[in-house]
Amino acid sequence: MLDVIGLRYHPATAAEPVLRDVSLQLPVGEPALVAGRSGSGKTTLLEVLCGLADADAGRILWNGQQLGTRQRRWLCGLVFQFPERHFLGLTVGQELKLGQRRLSAEKAEAVLEQVGLGAVSLQQAPERLSGGQQRRLALAVQLVRDARVLLLDEPTAGLDWTVREEVLQLLGQLARERALLVVTHEPELFRGVIERGWRLEQGVLRPMQTLSRVSSP
Ligand SMILES: Nc1ncnc2c1ncn2[C@@H]1O[C@H](COP(=O)(O)OP(=O)(O)O)[C@@H](O)[C@H]1O
Ligand SMILES: [Mg+2]
Repeated sequence: MLDVIGLRYHPATAAEPVLRDVSLQLPVGEPALVAGRSGSGKTTLLEVLCGLADADAGRILWNGQQLGTRQRRWLCGLVFQFPERHFLGLTVGQELKLGQRRLSAEKAEAVLEQVGLGAVSLQQAPERLSGGQQRRLALAVQLVRDARVLLLDEPTAGLDWTVREEVLQLLGQLARERALLVVTHEPELFRGVIERGWRLEQGVLRPMQTLSRVSSP
């Protein structure tokens, strides 16, 4: 379980703190989400959790052990919003190797299978994949790294609804063996897949009662 206690983040370049006393728990097998409007601090929260930004106060523990930023970079897999824009590999195989340099073809294929890309060749160019396949590939890179905590920034953004359903199903599957946190401005889309959540407003995180209640019109 990832246990986040009292995070505060106030970069010198911001007039107000971006995160104020943020606490949350992410047990393995219980995916959760953070909902909030644009500018509420969702992306920043993920950056602090995964060790890309340094909090001014607070602690982050994995199974009871406090972790520094370096350890969190290993533990956490951050999937950016529109991850396909950040692909660097010329082929699917190369992209996966960004997760782990010495990656055997067997492992690469097993991971592709796990995300439903079993039919895709390692030689395929990432930009030739469909939108949904590209999102799966971005997740596969984190699986190759064996990230125990998956952090997903707006994973449904820009997907049409059939593809969205596929990606949601995959997230539900991956969450069984990992801690998983989604940040999103559209929490209602996750109904049935993610049952726990918080709302982030001006850097303050508050639990949502039930997702269905929050998302009803
Ligand atoms: N290093 C920083 N310096 C100044 N402002 C920052 C910094 N990091 C985040 N912010 C501000 O924090 C707010 C939240 O941004 P962000 O986390 O991107 O929100 P969201 O992902 O919810 O849209 C924004 O107003 C952003 O400008
Ligand atoms: Mg954002």
